[in-house]
Amino acid sequence: MSEVLAIYGGAPAIAPGTVKNWPPIDRIDEEMVLEALHGKSQARGPQNLAFEKEFCAWNGNHFALFTNSGTAALHMCLAGCGIGAGDQVLVTAYSWSSSATCILHHDAIPIFVDIDPETFLMDPDKIEAAITPRTKAIIVVQLHGLCDDMDKINAIARKHHLKVIEDACQAHGALYKGRKAGTLGDCAAFSLNQNKCLSCGEGGIFVTDNEDIYNGAAKLWSFGETSRPEQSRDYHAYALGWMYRNNEITAAYARAQLSKYDFYFKTLRANGGYLLENLSGTPGLLLPYEPAYAVHNWYNFNLRIDFAQRGIHDVDTQIAFRDAVAAALREEGVAATVWQRFILPEMTVFAAKNAYGHGYPWSIPGADEGVDYTPSRFPNALEYSRKHISIVQTLRAPNGLDIAEKAALGIRKVFENLDRIDVERIQQIVAERQK
Ligand SMILES: Cc1ncc(COP(=O)(O)O)c(C=O)c1O
Repeated sequence: MSEVLAIYGGAPAIAPGTVKNWPPIDRIDEEMVLEALHGKSQARGPQNLAFEKEFCAWNGNHFALFTNSGTAALHMCLAGCGIGAGDQVLVTAYSWSSSATCILHHDAIPIFVDIDPETFLMDPDKIEAAITPRTKAIIVVQLHGLCDDMDKINAIARKHHLKVIEDACQAHGALYKGRKAGTLGDCAAFSLNQNKCLSCGEGGIFVTDNEDIYNGAAKLWSFGETSRPEQSRDYHAYALGWMYRNNEITAAYARAQLSKYDFYFKTLRANGGYLLENLSGTPGLLLPYEPAYAVHNWYNFNLRIDFAQRGIHDVDTQIAFRDAVAAALREEGVAATVWQRFILPEMTVFAAKNAYGHGYPWSIPGADEGVDYTPSRFPNALEYSRKHISIVQTLRAPNGLDIAEKAALGIRKVFENLDRIDVERIQQIVAERQK
């Protein structure tokens, strides 16, 4: 293989057009979607009920509601857990925005907890210091497809009488001590948007084993109504509700994809495992860590640059260097991105403490007491946001070990040539390509 980096004109490790699109579509998807399209109802109906039942059976939950997004399912978790205006809810400082905006959707106050530098997940040892008399729940984000240390977190929650909500939006099939994500707290939300390991274009699913939580979530999900999904509706708003339902065609597509999930998961495990083994010892590269308690689903395989080893300490230089390395990886054919550049407390919606206008919900009397979003209070999250590079699509089915092998060669090539990463030159090349 050419040792000239592809970004400088060398041959790429993965030739363009080799990596197949996600998700793979076959006759199963086509037939099921067509059947739904020709069904009696295209709004919520039997396909939705069947998907909920099949997902419950696959994941090990008692109750489920198919939603139009993971964010909707998260909001339902808050409602189901009885969170009220001005309550505080703990959440990791580093995640997708809606892991924390869902708290604002329910008029409650997000309290951020820094991440563990090895797992990149909420640090269980930092949770207790963030608990106040107003704290009502912990949202545990099983980020990148890795479960947090749930025994530790559940023990803290029990001690302080807090509900545990799993944001399992990225964690389909991920395991904690042999148990599946989405069965590890009081209730959970999964996303099924196209980026996810289980996809139906756009969608989500709320799950719980607790009937009271289910009833509270169901009310919010469909106009504040209380009739069960399988019952006829009385069209009465018993509470403030949203419209978070999904449709039959999308449900049929979700069912088709779920029927193939075990193959997708095996592929992810094999490809992620290959990278982990074959990239070990690459100079300047920090690999993700899979704790002994966990089975990662490798939704997002994270690379980090060892800036200490390279002697790069200035933050802006680190970010520019990381972006140049990601661009070089992309030119090698490895779908490398920077997933989240900002930690949550840095995002304006939180930093400005103004979600609905007039400073609400922080303006609720007493709600803002001691709430401090200063980013430097979350040093591990900040450091991670500057160092990481994410690899998603390259590792997904139907791309198998042949692609993982090429991806490993491409990553190794870039990291073995870090001395040749000329940030300014790469910035110019990228700018030219974007014209
Ligand atoms: C961790 C996490 N939480 C929540 C969400 C929200 O899911 P959705 O886009 O389906 O609303 C996502 C997806 O982007 C996510 O990655």
